[in-house]
Amino acid sequence: MTHSLVLDDVTKSFGRTSVLEGITLTIDPGETVAVMGPSGSGKSTLLHCMSGMLTPTAGSVSFGDLQISALDDRARSRLRLEEFGFVFQDSQLLPELTAVDNVALPAILTGMPRGKARDIAQNLLAQLGIDVLAYKRPGQVSGGQAQRIAIARALAGSPSIVFADEPTGALDQTTGQEVMQLLTAVAANNGTTLVVVTHDVAVASWLDRRVEIRDGIIHNDQMMRGVR
Ligand SMILES: Nc1ncnc2c1ncn2[C@@H]1O[C@H](COP(=O)(O)OP(=O)(O)OP(=O)(O)O)[C@@H](O)[C@H]1O
Ligand SMILES: [Mg+2]
Repeated sequence: MTHSLVLDDVTKSFGRTSVLEGITLTIDPGETVAVMGPSGSGKSTLLHCMSGMLTPTAGSVSFGDLQISALDDRARSRLRLEEFGFVFQDSQLLPELTAVDNVALPAILTGMPRGKARDIAQNLLAQLGIDVLAYKRPGQVSGGQAQRIAIARALAGSPSIVFADEPTGALDQTTGQEVMQLLTAVAANNGTTLVVVTHDVAVASWLDRRVEIRDGIIHNDQMMRGVR
């Protein structure tokens, strides 16, 4: 089940600080989008509003027929678990679990039998070229490897949309490019929509569309498909 993600005149303020001042945006299924803008421009805030981690001050965020911004906490958590995957700057793997168990966990939490979730996890680790790491713990792998495990985890529940906030921010340039190549390839394979916050043009160049925010509004929204 994949739907468009539709933001209609979304504003977000923290106290008197207005961060988003009317964002209207549709992201279609399978699109890959870079959210760009200067530090402090509200990229992470926008990602959090899109993915139901934050409730907008005004305006709406919808995924298909569901208005995410109007759901109660429980329904919103459920939607996030079933439809969305997340990748952060720091991989945020659970240190006591092996790679395969880290990857399988979100799928198990949606009710998938453990054996099936582990099979899917193994398969994703293979797609990301790190099946040899399946039984390593996060403390035993490099930063780039940890980020690949985190990508596999984000994809394990077959999400409609993966949201990534500076997924290469803690990696060197070469490793960051490898991670973006893998992320976009696996997303394309699975028909997953990708929304990636980045301030790095080299990272954005892996994605079809660039949405730039400045001063709380969309400053530029451009299709880049075929430019690479
Ligand atoms: N929970 C919060 N409470 C108060 N202010 C916040 C909160 N979250 C973000 N802000 C403010 O909102 C503005 C935008 O922050 P945000 O983290 O979205 O920016 P960003 O574009 O992701 O920046 P960076 O590139 O540095 O990660 C900043 O001025 C920040 O201080
Ligand atoms: Mg940020």
